Amino acid sequence: MRPVILAIESSCDETSASVIRNGKVLNNIIASQAVHQKYGGVVPELASRAHQQNIIAVVSEAMETSGVSKTELDAIAFTRGPGLMGALLVGVSFAKGMAMALDIPMIEVNHMQAHVLAHFIDEPKPSFPFLCLTVSGGHTQIVLVKSHLEMEVIGQTQDDAVGEAFDKAAKIMGLPYPGGPLIDKYAQLGNPKAYKFSETVMPGLDFSFSGIKTAFLYFLRDEKVKNPNFVEEHVNDICASIQQHLVTMLLKRLLQASEQTGIKDIAIAGGVSANSGLRKELKALGDAKGWNVFIPAFEYCTDNAAMIAVAAHYKYLKQEFCSLDVTPLARMPL
Ligand code: KG4
Ligand code: ZN
Repeated sequence: MRPVILAIESSCDETSASVIRNGKVLNNIIASQAVHQKYGGVVPELASRAHQQNIIAVVSEAMETSGVSKTELDAIAFTRGPGLMGALLVGVSFAKGMAMALDIPMIEVNHMQAHVLAHFIDEPKPSFPFLCLTVSGGHTQIVLVKSHLEMEVIGQTQDDAVGEAFDKAAKIMGLPYPGGPLIDKYAQLGNPKAYKFSETVMPGLDFSFSGIKTAFLYFLRDEKVKNPNFVEEHVNDICASIQQHLVTMLLKRLLQASEQTGIKDIAIAGGVSANSGLRKELKALGDAKGWNVFIPAFEYCTDNAAMIAVAAHYKYLKQEFCSLDVTPLARMPL
């Protein structure tokens, strides 16, 4: 029953640990950081401190609930990047300490590759090659997935990530951070066709989300001149319309990518893949186009260590270990 791996994720504002045995994820312990809410976004220094406070408890819980003893571990995996440097450092340092103490190898994992590999935690699993739309607070990518560890970005945002667009739209409306899930919640009660916004069209399979932020800001400013209570009175319709706009932008490119590559196994990953509008519209598009659509369980959409554990499993099978002098990378290509 090998390998047994402990995986640690600390790239942004979730401290997470997971144990995987022979490719089967045994648990996924996550401590979220509420400290950022009052600042309207993740404060890197506070994230780093919160990881330091949480990491021992999170790893201990993962070890205890897995039923695996430390001496049974074959490797320690960790997120090397991309992410916040101070946050990554906590996970990397902790992994080094444990690997040294137990005299076992370390496995470095690319956070974005792990988001894609979240599809290999449970059944059904996509078959290669497939396309994955990876949408988070820091990234928006269309990835051509050739094998577990071979991936190519064929389209990406040239400025903001779509998660950022969700969060900034929410902030403009006066909603607390992180606004993405709140927009989703209010959108479910609103009319997605109530308001229209203009779109910045990029060449090829690329995206741009910085223009929509400004367009949205001016739209609300103009409406508030006519009616100071515009946002409060129309919050559901505004959320439904901005969500519809962002989802449509994503799916247009995904459709184009499928047509260009001829690939019909289509997956989504990353925090924004928790969005109910995106999930619903992708299923509908998939039905219309004869795609096999793969949508991860909610728990595996946002940052978690189970996806790091799965990535580490495949790296272990190829004996891809890293040395003890490994350093985190704030930027790390796929
Ligand atoms: O993958 P993730 O947890 O962290 C990063 O690596 O960035 O993604 C976080 C992003 C945030 O922008 C958050 O607002 C967005 O995912 N998000 C959502 C939803 N749930 C999380 N956006 C829209 N609808 C949701 N239901
Ligand atoms: Zn992420």
